[in-house]
Amino acid sequence: MMRAELGPTLLDAATIAARLDGLACEITAFYKGKPLTVLAILNGSLLFAADLLRRIPLPLRLETLNVASYHGGMESSGWVTFLQDGLPDFAGRHVLVLDDILDTGCTLQAIRQRLVAEAAPLSVRVAVLLRKNKPRAQPLDADYVGFDIDDAFVVGYGLDHQGHYRNLPDVRVVR
Ligand code: IMP
Ligand code: MG
Repeated sequence: MMRAELGPTLLDAATIAARLDGLACEITAFYKGKPLTVLAILNGSLLFAADLLRRIPLPLRLETLNVASYHGGMESSGWVTFLQDGLPDFAGRHVLVLDDILDTGCTLQAIRQRLVAEAAPLSVRVAVLLRKNKPRAQPLDADYVGFDIDDAFVVGYGLDHQGHYRNLPDVRVVR
């Protein structure tokens, strides 16, 4: 499969870093004194989580969840595959779910439903690096948003196109 052609840089590394400072402050203020578990959704939120968590000076636990929602293309498939059995133990914990991007909302909606139904955490909030400006198929919004962006396909800083470009330091548009 051909690599996608990259368009302009949407968010450069310095812009992302500056915004993470602000996000981390909001999150730290909210969770101070609460038993917090961060649930990073892999693979897309790996870089976001690594950079954000280093800015949150709270005692916290880190868990990960492996899901696939794209299955290759540039359109959300609308169905979500959990790539591992079971869930971490969230009893008595507040959970902050981290994901790279809120697109249709199907992925985060499925994750949140499963958490609430099977793991009974004290609360579930959602933080995303990016939120696409479009009508959402699911009634789910993020509690913390790094950047609102136009409805284009983007890569870099953890986001991929068919497995490529996750290691770009900037977020770029795919043509
Ligand atoms: P949703 O379920 O439609 O909200 O899609 C969420 C997932 O689709 C994200 O976690 C990403 O992995 C992927 N995704 C959605 N939009 C993009 C994009 O523009 N670039 C790369 N991945 C995307
Ligand atoms: Mg992806």
